Amino acid sequence: DKGNHRHFMQKEIFEQPTVVAQALGRYLDPVAGKVRLPEMPFELATVPKVTLVACGTSYYAALVARYWIEKLARVPVEVDIASEFRYREPVYMDGGLAIFISQSGETADTLAALRHAKAAGQRVATIVNVMGSTMAREADVVLPIHAGAEIGVASTKAFTCQLSVLAALAVDLAAAKGQIDAAQEAAFVEELETAPKLMARVLAHDDAIQEIARAIAPARDVLFVGRGIHFPIAMEGALKLKEISYIHAEGYAAGELKHGPIALIDENVPVIGIAPNDELIDKTVSNLQEIMARQGKVILLSDNAESEAEGMFARLEMPSAGELVTPILYAIPVQLLAYYAAVEKGTDVDQPRNLAKSVTVE
Ligand code: M6R
Repeated sequence: DKGNHRHFMQKEIFEQPTVVAQALGRYLDPVAGKVRLPEMPFELATVPKVTLVACGTSYYAALVARYWIEKLARVPVEVDIASEFRYREPVYMDGGLAIFISQSGETADTLAALRHAKAAGQRVATIVNVMGSTMAREADVVLPIHAGAEIGVASTKAFTCQLSVLAALAVDLAAAKGQIDAAQEAAFVEELETAPKLMARVLAHDDAIQEIARAIAPARDVLFVGRGIHFPIAMEGALKLKEISYIHAEGYAAGELKHGPIALIDENVPVIGIAPNDELIDKTVSNLQEIMARQGKVILLSDNAESEAEGMFARLEMPSAGELVTPILYAIPVQLLAYYAAVEKGTDVDQPRNLAKSVTVE
């Protein structure tokens, strides 16, 4: 049931504050100021390394999580695309924790990677939406994302719920490793609790985003750029746009532009800059100015009102948030841009050509 939405994708985008609140409710104890993960058959404190493996949007969730886990828990993290993982003969560490992220829990490559890690004696966890799925049955530990059924082929609410669970896991691992104390853990729990209300504030910009989407719909190519933890959000934005609007899009680390892709820029190429007000903003904005100097149409997503707006094609004012919530917030405008660009082009939003919701062949 789409309710009063035109497509399941739109409904699922707008459900995000509710389902993220639901997911966080299962993992956070706000009274105690603690993260509560399901029972695990091993001590998180003993995990020497984390391996994250997934496909598509779930892979981008893994890339975001790498920043959190390495920064907060100081545990090395390796991230791989499931279809590549087994073939490069990964080096497992004794006691390593391998986490397989999948909305469906049935993606053939991710499942094969899970079996590979299990056969190698790794501790195997899965972050899934579908509880009765094969991956949920085969893993030692299951971390459900509680997003509710996701019908649109384009993954939206599963992504932000995956991020919510991964953020909780990063905090718990950091606490288990003694990298953060009880007060810091409580502060992270409090920060995560702010996500749903801030997400609702982003969704309130729906009209402004639709207007920007109308302007990018005629483009042949669109670039998404970001730095640090927002580089994977740029790639996720590009994937969303490609898969439902069929506009060619790429996500780049902003600092990589001048190593090749800037050659593509002219007045017909919109560039979406994901630039929250963090320690990287000046560098990202200076990369965007290089784009504007070549007539690129820059669309800035930022919470920094002072950042250089002159010459920009459009800007979207985002709420400010902490390091665990910011990537969750910036996922929303890129979903909505893709959604409205697809609506503008008249494509089949919920069932884009050539794609299936669950990819059960390798
Ligand atoms: O069910 P999974 O999370 O394992 O699916 C992985 C990808 O097939 C999926 O995220 C795909 O990239 C989406 N259509 C992206 O919107």
